[in-house]
Amino acid sequence: MRLVVTKMNLGLWAAAYVKEKINAFRPTPEKPFVLGLPTGGTVVDLYANLRLFYKGGVLRFKDVVTFNMDEYVGLPKDHPQSYHSYMKLNLFNEVDIRPANCHLLNAQAPDLRQECARYEDAIRRVGGITLFLGGVGNNGHIAFNEPGSALDSRTRPVDLTPSTIQANARFFLNDESRVPKQALTVGIGTILDAQELLFLASGTAKSAAVARLASPGITPACPLTALKRHPHATLLVDPAACVQLGTTAREKLDALMRAEPHAEHWTLEWTEKE
Ligand code: GLP
Repeated sequence: MRLVVTKMNLGLWAAAYVKEKINAFRPTPEKPFVLGLPTGGTVVDLYANLRLFYKGGVLRFKDVVTFNMDEYVGLPKDHPQSYHSYMKLNLFNEVDIRPANCHLLNAQAPDLRQECARYEDAIRRVGGITLFLGGVGNNGHIAFNEPGSALDSRTRPVDLTPSTIQANARFFLNDESRVPKQALTVGIGTILDAQELLFLASGTAKSAAVARLASPGITPACPLTALKRHPHATLLVDPAACVQLGTTAREKLDALMRAEPHAEHWTLEWTEKE
């Protein structure tokens, strides 16, 4: 996998990457581009830039099929903080995507386990996810796979940890009691099945998880480290997310930055031996 560090706007970098991938794929109704989608504060700029590309006529979503990573249990779909609402606001209502191509977990389903099985099945039926985009929790979670999640986990209902509830309270009037305590999430195994992964982490709040990723080992204690199992995974970060990098990674990065101070980004690459 590779760690890409950029001083550019992460959302613009990632949106340009997604645009290139979709356009190079030349999707058709018979062969759609299947995009895994995240929510959260980090990716707001990514969606803003995807909307701009669409409005500028350089990106179409007509033959793109999407699967969101997760959804809160207990919020109606039209609650302003549901991920259904987030996606409509940030992307679906603004571009030419077909509503029937937009998949989200229905966290209001009467049988949540059955809903998760249906979701896995829907992903399988389109032939799997081409590119899975993601964010990172302060505690290293990916989607809502909290620390301790099995690295081969599948889509399922989960309990959110106190640290995630605290981190996400900012979207719920800073009132932790309003934050749902459970969610449906794709599993780490579901994410790793995608052909390619692009995850984003910005700011010092993510620096411990980024440092853990950049140090040896893959561990359920930091789900983000599972990305090292994937042959085509990228974690895109800003310099603030790198402040806790260990000495080896720090020195490599410093050397790259010194050699090419005006580069658009710097890349650290490694293959993990488990
Ligand atoms: C939530 C989402 C995750 C996301 C994380 C980071 O917990 N379920 O998928 O990666 O938030 O969010 P933010 O970008 O707001 O820090």
